[in-house]
Amino acid sequence: MKVLLIGSGGREHALAWKLAQSPELTTLYAAPGNPGIAEHATLVPVNTEDNDAVVSFCKDNAIDFVVVGPEAPLVAGVADRLRAEGFAVFGPSAAAAQLEGSKGFTKDICARYDIPTGAYQRFNNGPKAKAYIREQGAPIVVKADGLAAGKGVTVAMTVDEALAAVDDCFEGAFGAAGAEVVVEAYLDGEEASFFCLSDGKHALALATAQDHKRVGEGDTGPNTGGMGAYSPAPVMTPEMVERTMKEIIEPTMRGMAESGYPFSGVFFAGLMITKKGPELIEYNVRFGDPECQVLMMRLKSDLLPILYATATGTLDKVTAEWSDDPALTVVMASKGYPGSYDKNTPIKSIPEAGEGAKVFHAGTALKDGALVATGGRVLNVTATGKAVGEAQARAYALLDKVEWDNGFCRRDIGWQAIKREKA
Ligand code: AMP
Ligand code: GLY
Repeated sequence: MKVLLIGSGGREHALAWKLAQSPELTTLYAAPGNPGIAEHATLVPVNTEDNDAVVSFCKDNAIDFVVVGPEAPLVAGVADRLRAEGFAVFGPSAAAAQLEGSKGFTKDICARYDIPTGAYQRFNNGPKAKAYIREQGAPIVVKADGLAAGKGVTVAMTVDEALAAVDDCFEGAFGAAGAEVVVEAYLDGEEASFFCLSDGKHALALATAQDHKRVGEGDTGPNTGGMGAYSPAPVMTPEMVERTMKEIIEPTMRGMAESGYPFSGVFFAGLMITKKGPELIEYNVRFGDPECQVLMMRLKSDLLPILYATATGTLDKVTAEWSDDPALTVVMASKGYPGSYDKNTPIKSIPEAGEGAKVFHAGTALKDGALVATGGRVLNVTATGKAVGEAQARAYALLDKVEWDNGFCRRDIGWQAIKREKA
């Protein structure tokens, strides 16, 4: 099978690494890819923001299957265009991608299908949103409706903070994403991410993970795209997984199909495990980054037929086997991230990773033949172990051999699971 992978982050490096192991693969192309992905794929300079360019490349190269990594091309309709031309695609239609693209859309599906989530209201003007916040009191959560690169959410501990967040949204701090605002109840509990494939009719539960969104140790400081992750998430017991499937995933799949937007791709459910059980915080319609990296380390099955079955409506014919050993990844980021940071700083050396370990590239490039850091999140140092504590020790031992002066990381990735392991 000739496969095109769209994307250039650590998530796509992990997908490329895993796809490249498939006996069913003949050629793997990646657009635009990165120097890590280039170890497993032929990089092609296709403009992935131009759906016509993607379709032309697929026609010219007789591509059999397209795997879309990030959300932006999905929201822009790349999967619809490719499907209309007869290509098999892993990733939802633009209409189904509203599950990630519009928080209000998701909340309405939850309301209609009785899916547990925080009580909410949608607003298109400041005064009404503020009146609702004053009525509800704090803590309360204010969200820009659209895609705001993970920055459109304010978990407000005071009413004043929530009112200021409403002003930010309507004054354009998040551009068009803030033209509508969702105000929702604060959920108290432990967060977990749950990944489940859907072909529109069938669901295949994958695995669970926990991200570390804050930049600082002890979960402090500003939010980021994720500073590290591990899988599985111990809070997701078999009972919680079963409840999540029944109470959240299955009704969403049914609701999407009945609304005329059958969902094909991966549900990435951000959950809060509250005293009542799993509640939905949000959906993403692609794999998490860096959660994908730890999922791929634990997946024993061939990824390619599983993603292809998702795209072709035959998910009931495949299964996914997982290693019991946890995997953990630490993100190395450029100093200053998530604020401003220097670009093109030299990465002098990346150590060889042995069995059960891997350094994934996220924001790297080759400049005059030398490896440089170009992004905020740059490398994902990943390892497995018999327990999260062992995976963590192995990941940091490998990370300490990376020679990159402008890099930093959190030293406490996995702390919640390790605390449990020690208890
Ligand atoms: P999101 O961009 O929707 O993932 O939100 C970012 C983060 O805000 C989440 O990972 C949670 O930590 C937090 N958050 C979002 N919604 C809520 C909520 N209703 N209650 C508590 N925390 C929330
Ligand atoms: N790590 C969170 C995300 O991919 O959205």
